[in-house]
Amino acid sequence: MMSSRTLRRRFPRPRDLAPLLTFKKFDTNARRRRLAKAFTIADLRTIAKRRTPQGAFDYADGAADQELSLARARQAFLDIEFHPAILRDVSQVDTSVRILGAPSSLPFGIAPTGFTRMMHAEGEQAGASAAGAAGIPFSLSTVGTTTPEQVAIANPRGRNWFQLYMQKDRDRSMTLVSRAADVGFDTLLVTVDVPVAGARLRDNRNGFTIPPTLTPATVLNAIPRTEWWWNFLTTEPLRFASLTDWDGTIAELLDTLFDPTVTFDDLAWIRDEWPGKVVVKGIQTLDDAKRVVDVGVDGIVLSNHGGRQLDRAPIPFHLLPVVKRELGQRTEIIVDTGIMSGADIVAALAMGADFTLVGRAYLYGLMAGGREGVDRAIDILTGEIVRTMKLLGVASISELNTQHVTQLRRLVPRGDV
Ligand SMILES: Cc1cc2nc3c(=O)[nH]c(=O)nc-3n(C[C@H](O)[C@H](O)[C@H](O)COP(=O)(O)O)c2cc1C
Repeated sequence: MMSSRTLRRRFPRPRDLAPLLTFKKFDTNARRRRLAKAFTIADLRTIAKRRTPQGAFDYADGAADQELSLARARQAFLDIEFHPAILRDVSQVDTSVRILGAPSSLPFGIAPTGFTRMMHAEGEQAGASAAGAAGIPFSLSTVGTTTPEQVAIANPRGRNWFQLYMQKDRDRSMTLVSRAADVGFDTLLVTVDVPVAGARLRDNRNGFTIPPTLTPATVLNAIPRTEWWWNFLTTEPLRFASLTDWDGTIAELLDTLFDPTVTFDDLAWIRDEWPGKVVVKGIQTLDDAKRVVDVGVDGIVLSNHGGRQLDRAPIPFHLLPVVKRELGQRTEIIVDTGIMSGADIVAALAMGADFTLVGRAYLYGLMAGGREGVDRAIDILTGEIVRTMKLLGVASISELNTQHVTQLRRLVPRGDV
């Protein structure tokens, strides 16, 4: 070992110091500066939390009851082990897929989320335009805060999907659906896991209503979040773009509007009414997956609604192998809930998913910085997908298979999956 006595020292010379003193060019755009510091979706969440009123942030971030479904779904992704193949040429990686009859440049799309303009004034327009720019599908919720027509303008060349909650008033549901079809939405996602609203305890505890009400607590919480309030007060009032106005809690709205009597027959009827692809969102058992495929839908979303409905529901990622084995030839399989990184997406594809949807990962970006925040979220996920694929020795999505992933045992269900 060389002792310090044997080191030959000299005085630092200005010429040697100069290259070490590089100052980054100051970006005058505060939003870009802020977003440049986010390297993961979790970083975006931290920024989002700082900038969004607690009621709106918790509405997006929270889940039902004890939030176990969401925590478990995320844990399941964390508990995977990847098995890389070495010495493959991964100089070029192709992340594109075909899903529901058309291409997507990345293996994920933006999930439908309600009340999105409450998270950030740019709302669905930010999501739809960012999705269009990235070449991925955007989904608009029945309880969206932007009309199908406005979404089509924001994403004129890209793919838009419409999410349907069957309402008690069937005519109103179908009017909405035909408006989406008329402006070129190519896929209908029929959400089937909301016969009643889940128990969103954070919303109850925050006394959260739509639109937000001003109480001493919300005013205090608003002080460091002036941009949100400024946007909120100086843009179109928050109202449902596709429904009549509402003045109450979200749970009350869902329970009043949505029809708990919907059955498989209604699904067959919707299938015949919609000109494009039909996908059922919220499948949680193999039996139900088989039944909806028998009705003749084009795809299924294995989902527990981001843990926002039945707490302790099955982990959608865990359903993949058995659903793939039984139905992979007959339907397209999409999975969501708990995706927080591109590696999660790669794992889902390796386990048998054809595609994935991201909800909160997109909303954290939106809350952190509007359109640019959504771009950042998509960039982060893309970088992670590409890097994970290269490290796995995989150059295209179709090469991914179950050999690349093992589920470590902690949360694996008993019995054969
Ligand atoms: C704030 C929020 C609102 C949502 N609103 C809807 C909705 O209106 N319709 C729907 O089918 N799913 C809705 N979802 C569920 C998402 O479509 C998706 O299933 C879920 O977010 C996936 O989980 P992730 O957030 O962990 O990615 C919502 C999710 C969130 C977080």
